Amino acid sequence: MSAERTQVAIVGGGPAGLLLSHLLRARGIDSVVLEARPRERVETRQRAGILEHGTVDVLREIGAAGRMDRLGLPHDGFELRFDGRGVRVDMQELTGRNVMIWAQTEITKDLIALRLEQGEPLLFSAEVLAVEDVGTDAPRVRYRYEGVERELRADVVVGADGFHGVARAAIPASRVTTYERVYPYSWLGILADVAPSSHELIYARGARGFALASMRSPTVTRAYIQVPNGTDASSWSDDAIWDELADRFALDDGSFTLARGPITDKSVTAMRSFVGAPMRHGRLFLAGDAAHIVPPTGAKGLNLAVADVRLLAEALGEWYASKDEALLDAYSGTALRRVWRASHFSWTMTTMLHRDPGADPFDEQLALSHLRLIESSDSERRTIAENYRGLALGGA
Ligand code: DHB
Repeated sequence: MSAERTQVAIVGGGPAGLLLSHLLRARGIDSVVLEARPRERVETRQRAGILEHGTVDVLREIGAAGRMDRLGLPHDGFELRFDGRGVRVDMQELTGRNVMIWAQTEITKDLIALRLEQGEPLLFSAEVLAVEDVGTDAPRVRYRYEGVERELRADVVVGADGFHGVARAAIPASRVTTYERVYPYSWLGILADVAPSSHELIYARGARGFALASMRSPTVTRAYIQVPNGTDASSWSDDAIWDELADRFALDDGSFTLARGPITDKSVTAMRSFVGAPMRHGRLFLAGDAAHIVPPTGAKGLNLAVADVRLLAEALGEWYASKDEALLDAYSGTALRRVWRASHFSWTMTTMLHRDPGADPFDEQLALSHLRLIESSDSERRTIAENYRGLALGGA
């Protein structure tokens, strides 16, 4: 078995792990990124596409924002639609900040290209078998690469390998408190070669459930509809999807027209919230989906992962520079405050806009009342806008 050494072993080459490797390099800290999937898989997975301003800033800071600044779409507001009418939430006016539409898939491609261009270690199809000795000052990652079992020794291991990754399992179950909510519906998502029907996103509570109109570019529409759990994406014909979207976005004054086009991708996403606390055990630190997931409504998942690794990079930088552990000790608590804020916001957006098959008329009236409050109250609209565009790092 061959053994190597680095300062920070990063398990997972999604946006969290890759971004961390860049933030550490900027601080003169070496890392090795191990990604279980092949490069092609990492670069083609369709995920969300809304970046908080803080996420945009950090991509610029590490020099990975060239394509985003050319092709990304800044959005100053979005629309909530219910009862046949729409309410615009003007983030720019209410909070002085906006968000950027730029797909996670594109960020991942740019972070990979930059890492490889720098000649820094990033291994694909490197399957992590175990993270060991995290309770000592010499943690190790055992992994298989090109058929050979290897060992990576490090000062610190960061688990950024997603909800189904192996890193979280290295924390003894008795040391973790988990919080979970599984929602009784899923999203059927599509990509279509047609210009978006609206220049801003529309989140709709339709008669038969939620729908979201988003986009990937001026010529590519991204849209989602609420479907029952266990739905097979191929059971929905293209026409049935467009008809359902048209119904859920319909305005009473007839002023909305849905643009239809060829659908190029269909997939179903489950809706779940999960938090594991603390996000640290000894020399193992968890970041992103490895530690917490949110339902997609409001697009907080990627932004939370980015916030985690910003905190971690700063804390590791401080530790290597001065042996001061204060920020590392504070990491989990600071990160979890943001995680819970986003969990609450995602829950609010999800329950307010979806039709729970088990809901009663009381639940229905509460959801509608909240939507009407957002419509009539500047302060409620501001609260939604602040959460949507992202709160200060470590805040809330
Ligand atoms: C997208 C996904 C979301 O969950 C969201 O709230 C907004 C946009 C998207 O994929 O474009």
